[in-house]
Amino acid sequence: MEFTFEGQGELNTLRPLRFIEGPLNRFDGMSLVVGFGDKKALPRRKAVMLMRKAASFAKQNQVKTFEIDFKEIRTLAAKDISDADLAQLVAEAFVMVNYEHTAYKNPPKEGFMFIETVAVRNASAAVKNGFTKGTAVGEAVNAARELSNTPGGDMTPELLAEAAVKAAEGTSAKVKILGKLEMAQLGMGAILGISKGSPEEPQFIMVEYWGTDRSKKPVVLAGKGVTFDTGGLNLKGGDGMYEMHMDMSGGAAVIHAAILAAKLGLKKNVVALVPAVENNLSTNAVRPGDVLKSMSGKMIEILNTDAEGRVILADAITYSKKYNPSAVVDVATLTGAALVALGTVASAVMTNKESVMPRLMEMAEESGDYIWQFPLWEEYDEMVKGNFGDVSNISTMGNSRYGGVIAGGKFLEVFAKELDCPWVHLDIAPVMTSRPGDFLAKGASGAPVRLLLKIIENGVK
Ligand code: BES
Ligand code: ZN
Ligand code: ZN
Repeated sequence: MEFTFEGQGELNTLRPLRFIEGPLNRFDGMSLVVGFGDKKALPRRKAVMLMRKAASFAKQNQVKTFEIDFKEIRTLAAKDISDADLAQLVAEAFVMVNYEHTAYKNPPKEGFMFIETVAVRNASAAVKNGFTKGTAVGEAVNAARELSNTPGGDMTPELLAEAAVKAAEGTSAKVKILGKLEMAQLGMGAILGISKGSPEEPQFIMVEYWGTDRSKKPVVLAGKGVTFDTGGLNLKGGDGMYEMHMDMSGGAAVIHAAILAAKLGLKKNVVALVPAVENNLSTNAVRPGDVLKSMSGKMIEILNTDAEGRVILADAITYSKKYNPSAVVDVATLTGAALVALGTVASAVMTNKESVMPRLMEMAEESGDYIWQFPLWEEYDEMVKGNFGDVSNISTMGNSRYGGVIAGGKFLEVFAKELDCPWVHLDIAPVMTSRPGDFLAKGASGAPVRLLLKIIENGVK
């Protein structure tokens, strides 16, 4: 899909898109009319939803080319959103709504229906730039969604590594991959331990983008790359394994956030680290009670093989020290408990530096990837005290089901303690998939690529 602007050649099949007060959506073959609530100026969250509704309505009605007037959109949206920001928001909405995972479907006779061209009237230079940036951001989100949506058999650790290499081609981002041997030499016993039950070779994927002076500390993003999570010997039951090919969504998001930074030519340094493994079961698989020696030297007592994400991330956090980072942000579909607590609207966030929270909350709000904080109080320290190792991968404080989100954060905090910079943990399990009402296609949501971009742009301070 592309945005064109006045003066770039006129389209002869244009249909105007109009916004009216009230709930009506109508397409009469000539014009699309999309209703928006009441007269009040739309705050950012509502503006995003209205644009998605409009795009989704166009797509449903198989309108491939149409025209929007930026002046009209401007009058709808709150004044505190700048023109460039508003244009970016519109572009992101259209590009994200226009994505669907069709790779495994035979196309219908008339082909899949996508919006092809949106002509924008009354776009200033700032607005055009906003559209260009929003398109790049939306495409990065969709690229992450595509990786996540790909079934586990076709998105093994090695294929994920290949996909990262391919995605970075033609950009100034560099991809480096470590295999099993190199990981063994580095002492990454946590990643290797979790991957033992799978015939798929684990990979440690690094995407580096140096957009400014190398002496400037990079932001390191560490993404969980479990390409399929069976639970291991603590096998998932019932419907629990459904959608577990998307358990590499954190990895997909950090890869595409780093590549996006390169595509936008940001004057920032960023490194994405993805420990990629399949969590499977076999006679070689890690057992409950096994103790793994992590790269940090800390001994991890595996009490549940299904709490694998935090274990592999431990080695990624330790590895991040090599980059002397300004901040480390880990991103993981870590706990079902986060879904229980927050529903499907926001990711859970935890940090070891409270003072970074206000700006982080703002960035989340501006990006559209919403977050909500959980505490990492000292009182919770006991949760991850191992019985026979230094740290246990599930809570040993009473019922292991209690405070599941915090237990995940507390475990990672142990490894983040060795860093000389702020650390932020994003449990993105709640937003792994789209939800009814957000006007996005079924499957992966691509969260939190938009928030990660803000983090790269502004730092974690
Ligand atoms: N990948 C899952 C968490 C998950 C569940 C993500 C549903 C997205 C949707 C994770 O590896 C897991 O299985 N966590 C366990 C932890 C428990 C054993 C402490 C869980 O949430 O049950
Ligand atoms: Zn698991
Ligand atoms: Zn998992």
